[in-house]
Amino acid sequence: MLKSKILFNISGSVAAYKSAYLVSKLVQNDYDVQVVMTEASQKFIGKATLEGLTGKPVLIDHFEDGKMMNHINLMKWADIIILCPASANTISKMANGIADNLVTSLFLAHTWDKPYLIVPAMNTAMFNHPSTQESLTKLKNWGVEILPTDEGYLACGDTGKGKLLDPEKIYDLLINYFQVNNKKKVKGNILITSGATREYLDGVRFISNMSTGKTASTIASSFWIVIIMLLMCMVLIQYYPMDILKYSIL
Ligand SMILES: Cc1cc2nc3c(=O)[nH]c(=O)nc-3n(C[C@H](O)[C@H](O)[C@H](O)COP(=O)(O)O)c2cc1C
Repeated sequence: MLKSKILFNISGSVAAYKSAYLVSKLVQNDYDVQVVMTEASQKFIGKATLEGLTGKPVLIDHFEDGKMMNHINLMKWADIIILCPASANTISKMANGIADNLVTSLFLAHTWDKPYLIVPAMNTAMFNHPSTQESLTKLKNWGVEILPTDEGYLACGDTGKGKLLDPEKIYDLLINYFQVNNKKKVKGNILITSGATREYLDGVRFISNMSTGKTASTIASSFWIVIIMLLMCMVLIQYYPMDILKYSIL
């Protein structure tokens, strides 16, 4: 089976070391991860760690021989893109169309047909600064997914907003965006039958089978998207397509 491709950008925040945990977890869960770093982020985490975790060279140089078109090709390659941690500097550059390194150039080559997630991490004053806030609003309006920050003890000794979201939560959100984006975009109606049937011999006796409905539930979940009409006939089942039921009830 083809592995899902994640373009993992890292910028210069003291929280950059936490990205190693996330990259490792993605690799362990069979995602194909390509790391891109800003120059500044290398002050916080070494590329040896990230190359070791992914088994691939980390990309930093915009003008690397033989890889000059990386800033376009990597965006075409990726199924989802994340900037984690996102520094105030890189966030503001992205919101202003500045493309002076590989991370920011890649963002300008974004064609908006796949999710781009930003996970800010910075001191509270930097986070609250109008430049950062206006940039985040602008990026959000363009369609970038801005993940929230945690509140708590920061590296500078302050306590407040701007702390990198817990990597476990980032992982869950990333995979969720990924799965929603990968739902099959099918037009038309689908009928899925699910679960065991009963063939009555008489009023009390029947012939049945061992079906639990698990296969149909999985198929239904993979097809589910708002634009299609999905009709499920559920008979004697043990498994429910939870995402469908959740949204159907709302
Ligand atoms: C010790 C230290 C910690 C820093 N932590 C952060 C941070 O958490 N978030 C942030 O936005 N900037 C932080 N900075 C400032 C950025 O590293 C700086 O703005 C840098 O130019 C960002 O470059 P980049 O956006 O190209 O990666 C920190 C700087 C230092 C020296």
